Amino acid sequence: MKLYIWGTGCGAGDLIDRWLDPANVTAFLDSVPAADRFLGRPVIRPEQFEDSPDALILVASSHTEEIARCAEALGIAPEKLVYSKNNWLLSDRNAPSPAADMLPAALLQALRRPPRVVRDPLWANGGPLSERDLENDYVRVRTLEAICRELDGVPGAAAELGVYRGGFARCINALLPERKLYLFDTFSGFDAAEAVREGRGFTAAHENASLERVLTLLPHPGKAVFRPGLFPSTAEGLEDERFCLVSLDVDLEESTLAGLRFFLPRISPGGYLLLHDCLSPLLPGVRKALRRCEEETQTRLRKLPLCDINGTMVISV
Ligand SMILES: C[S@@+](CC[C@H](N)C(=O)[O-])C[C@H]1O[C@@H](n2cnc3c(N)ncnc32)[C@H](O)[C@@H]1O
Repeated sequence: MKLYIWGTGCGAGDLIDRWLDPANVTAFLDSVPAADRFLGRPVIRPEQFEDSPDALILVASSHTEEIARCAEALGIAPEKLVYSKNNWLLSDRNAPSPAADMLPAALLQALRRPPRVVRDPLWANGGPLSERDLENDYVRVRTLEAICRELDGVPGAAAELGVYRGGFARCINALLPERKLYLFDTFSGFDAAEAVREGRGFTAAHENASLERVLTLLPHPGKAVFRPGLFPSTAEGLEDERFCLVSLDVDLEESTLAGLRFFLPRISPGGYLLLHDCLSPLLPGVRKALRRCEEETQTRLRKLPLCDINGTMVISV
């Protein structure tokens, strides 16, 4: 096999350090070579690359789009390139490549990891989340994962107001297996009167929920405390409870405000409230409720907007 590495920066150095003997590298490719040798091997310009059936180029640079364009312009077939920084820009660049099978198996497995936005999973060996948990809204769930790692020593239970079919509650329960998890929902959809007041017509879509279904999804069901019914009356009796993490996801203004009023004063220092849909143009009531809460309490909350699919606002206490 004739192995070429495209790039002479730290990406190439990392590949060599971790996986490859430079003696096995035919040459490095660089469009603006700083020297004619790198790690003892020749450096050539991409236009000097000579294709052959056993030639393969490992791209060791994060400038994947630029390199792909350059390779295309030079007539280098996509299957000749394997991107070590694949999905850097969220696009899957690696084409099926018979020559790639000649790479060391462990390297090939590392290169063919599924798409992700951050470089490595936060927990070694996969962690408690499944690939399926990440399918719907990667940034939201990965942020939850990162936040849960910050909760050591922060007292209190976890809670979700607006559980629906339990997809996000499942993640909270998986990530915080030791914490009590309060789950508040009607489990039969929105309050019809509130939905009418706020001009929402989509309520039927949320009527197909059931507490029993959520229970079967949870990896630690013994930690769940279900509070079915219309919030805030379902919080009665919990006035002295404290929380380390709250997910608030009820879409509508009045219920969101009720959730903020109840939970914010009960979140322990160091804890978080994740306000889903806060930046969504489709659900303006959520943002209005947050503004009203800040006005009522005359406080400016510590907020971090997320670029997840529906614009979660992370509030840290
Ligand atoms: C968008 S869904 C929640 C989705 C869920 N958090 C997830 O990520 O999978 C909104 C839920 O809020 C519930 N809900 C809205 N207002 C409520 C209220 N005042 N009391 C209880 N549940 C409410 C609805 O029944 C619906 O199931």
